[in-house]
Amino acid sequence: MSEHQHVVIFDTTLRDGEQSPGCSMTWVEKLRLARQLDRLGVDVIEAGFPVASDGDFRAVQAMARYIRRPVIAALARCRPDDIDWAWRALDEAARPRIHTFLATSDIHLQHKLKISRLECLKQAADAVRRAKSCCPDVEFSAEDATRSDPDFLCEILQAVIDAGASTVNIPDTVGYTVPAEFAELIQTIRYRVPGIEHVTISAHCHDDLGLAVANSLAAVSAGARQVECTVNGIGERAGNASLEELVMTMRVRPDRYPYRINVCSEQLYRTSQLLCDITGVPVQPNKAIIGRNAFAHEAGIHQDGMIKNSLTYEIMTPHSVGVPGSTFVLGKHSGRHALAQRCEELGFRLDRRELDYVYRQFLALADDNKTVENPSILELIKRARCGHMPTDITTDATRGQAATSHNLTSQTHSGPIPAVLPSEANSYAFGAAAAVRESAHEGEQQEDYLWGV
Ligand code: KIV
Ligand code: ZN
Repeated sequence: MSEHQHVVIFDTTLRDGEQSPGCSMTWVEKLRLARQLDRLGVDVIEAGFPVASDGDFRAVQAMARYIRRPVIAALARCRPDDIDWAWRALDEAARPRIHTFLATSDIHLQHKLKISRLECLKQAADAVRRAKSCCPDVEFSAEDATRSDPDFLCEILQAVIDAGASTVNIPDTVGYTVPAEFAELIQTIRYRVPGIEHVTISAHCHDDLGLAVANSLAAVSAGARQVECTVNGIGERAGNASLEELVMTMRVRPDRYPYRINVCSEQLYRTSQLLCDITGVPVQPNKAIIGRNAFAHEAGIHQDGMIKNSLTYEIMTPHSVGVPGSTFVLGKHSGRHALAQRCEELGFRLDRRELDYVYRQFLALADDNKTVENPSILELIKRARCGHMPTDITTDATRGQAATSHNLTSQTHSGPIPAVLPSEANSYAFGAAAAVRESAHEGEQQEDYLWGV
């Protein structure tokens, strides 16, 4: 594949991500995460904003010294002092980049910066020229680009390219754009800015409308060749485009995104966990790719499909992102196949009659608890094996009959709903559920379907 098709993964977890409430890190923690980002294979690590604090200066300095493969970027406003501090912090870097930014929207120019467009143009070009005089790799970001006048945006991009920028970044700073519009903006820039073909166009999207990943991918399809993103999607307000979602979309859908990316996707989960560990901020269970539930299956029909062939309900393998395995969560939507498999993993191969009994008890328990854990399942097996099993149970019972059997367990409620509900002590931890194995019970498929599996 040609170099042109390479999409650069620019990780800004340690800069924009750190701006997420509760996610600030010491320089030692940043260095620890940077080592993992290096293992993950990102192309660029934005290490920090050196002028902002001594800690950030040290963090950038440490990464510049110890992390040798990826480009190490330091952020700077379009001010001489900022640029000089950034360059000082990058002094020992093998592959330094100065990333300088200035807002270009009238809202920011009038209300925040209180400067004219002309002054903005001059400040941006001067800053890039200064950065270029010391560092060969200079990125310019037009903050709030998506709310900027496209004519002015093109003008300023031309000025910074003339001044030596090698990457021009188009941030959707406030997460306002939508995919089709952002793609159009990238195309407009490609069509109208002289010299754009010699530089890398980058997308930097925030997630205020939940569109950061979609917008970044739209930009890639329109010609952007760098995406700026963060691990777990952390970042200012609703966060930045999530690195793992971008990477895996391109991995899973090469038909739509035929680009080369250097990231080793098997390191995604470990990286995500390390970030949670360092910041103490967990990801939501249903977070794509690395959330606790991303490869967990509860519905019986899904579990049944998974046992037969994981392609039925998984579009990527857990191993491809470094998750140890798929999990079956046993709850009221689960079926006998998954329950039988769990029993086997616990060391008990139940015959059909025993399984019917355990399954009925299990359903009753599951109705009162979010999930049913191994100790409860072992208890049910024990009952089945210790003569508690009533003799009137037949193996071809229907689910309806199973429902009427709830009074077989002391933990069910056959009368009115009690004032005090059972505790939710049965919550599960990721990885506690047994790993999924191929162990289809032949000949039972149709029956399982009737049982709601
Ligand atoms: O969101 C933004 O505009 C930024 C710039 C500094 C690139 O983070
Ligand atoms: Zn940002």
